[in-house]
Amino acid sequence: MTETTDDQSKKIPLQKGTEDAKASDGAAPLLRVRGLVRHFPITKGLLKRQAGAVQAVDGIDFDVRPGETLGVVGESGCGKSTMGRLITRLDEPTGGTIEFQGRDITHLSPGRLRPMRRDVQMIFQDPYGSLNPRHTIGGIVSTPFRLQGVEPEGGLKKEVQRLLELVGLSPEHYNRYPHEFSGGQRQRIGIARALALKPKLVVADEPVSALDVSIQAQVVNLMDDLQEELGLTYVIIAHDLSVIRHVSDRIAVMYLGKIVELSDRKALYESPMHPYTKALLSAVPVPDPKRRTQRDRILLKGDVPSPINPPSGCRFRTRCWKATEVCTTTEPPLVALRTGHQVACHHPENAGDRPAAAPAEPGEGAATGE
Ligand SMILES: Nc1ncnc2c1ncn2[C@@H]1O[C@H](COP(=O)(O)OP(=O)(O)OP(=O)(O)O)[C@@H](O)[C@H]1O
Ligand code: SF4
Ligand SMILES: [Mg+2]
Repeated sequence: MTETTDDQSKKIPLQKGTEDAKASDGAAPLLRVRGLVRHFPITKGLLKRQAGAVQAVDGIDFDVRPGETLGVVGESGCGKSTMGRLITRLDEPTGGTIEFQGRDITHLSPGRLRPMRRDVQMIFQDPYGSLNPRHTIGGIVSTPFRLQGVEPEGGLKKEVQRLLELVGLSPEHYNRYPHEFSGGQRQRIGIARALALKPKLVVADEPVSALDVSIQAQVVNLMDDLQEELGLTYVIIAHDLSVIRHVSDRIAVMYLGKIVELSDRKALYESPMHPYTKALLSAVPVPDPKRRTQRDRILLKGDVPSPINPPSGCRFRTRCWKATEVCTTTEPPLVALRTGHQVACHHPENAGDRPAAAPAEPGEGAATGE
């Protein structure tokens, strides 16, 4: 069972127009996250005394608008997966609030979360580990129906076969097992399972990073097509900007448990304001050879500090070439310095002579009176 490995460039979807992003600007957010915190306690000794905490997610604010794709990027360990597990309520926050369709779901019990599980689904990074090897494809894709007690019109098998076709597999794969499939096909199975109950929000945690580069674009394209066809809203997590640059309407950049920049895609690529974003972008290959010399590669010094004991003030200061005294003493708040462009930095890039704005109403860029 092989998968076609066409030239990636042909498969990359067209960049989304800013019209798409704007279509839902005024609508109430599908997901509203405020002050989200997840600290994992570190215990010591026989009495399991708490000796500290891993500050995996440490106070983040954002909205996800209906129909959009929000990309979330950042280096390994910055809290992306933890954030994904919190907003899908696979994990429970230690602080802050999560509202889904206007309803507070922050601390709902498993029983009361059950109806929401239909509407919010997750696609995982590892397309093999996330599929039970002892179950057939039919069994795997029909699990959500069984868990929710849903009987599709026309019968379960027919609906599962329709889903397999929808993600580019054959209905005849119904009785096969995960090991018979390639990585890309397995990720398609994961996508079919996530879409089974027609969710509203899909959180995809590094959905293609375990796949061969030539397959990555196919799976990203599939997700993009399905979004249009089914009216899905996506949060797509990636560790660099190359995978999500084409499909995101807006992008949140995370560093050590914080969002440091949040902006629509075009503004982020054309004039990044946070030094960390600038460094991340400098590592993304420029496809046009004529422009290749324009972006100087910024090599960040040092490693990401430990989330157990993050630096004071700005968490990026130990690696930032622009750091000054104020960066050590004062944490920069995430503020809208332009319409819809929020950044947490005392000395932002591409800021011109604009004065710093007051902290924004998250996700809205409201400080600029949008
Ligand atoms: N269950 C847990 N218990 C303790 N620490 C955890 C737990 N889950 C995550 N962490 C820690 O929280 C921090 C954030 O982890 P997370 O997996 O969210 O990062 P990530 O951005 O998804 O990284 P990657 O790109 O490697 O997937 C890391 O320091 C990690 O070790
Ligand atoms: S606040 Fe200071 S240390 Fe942090 S990113 Fe901005 S300039 Fe760098
Ligand atoms: Mg992760």
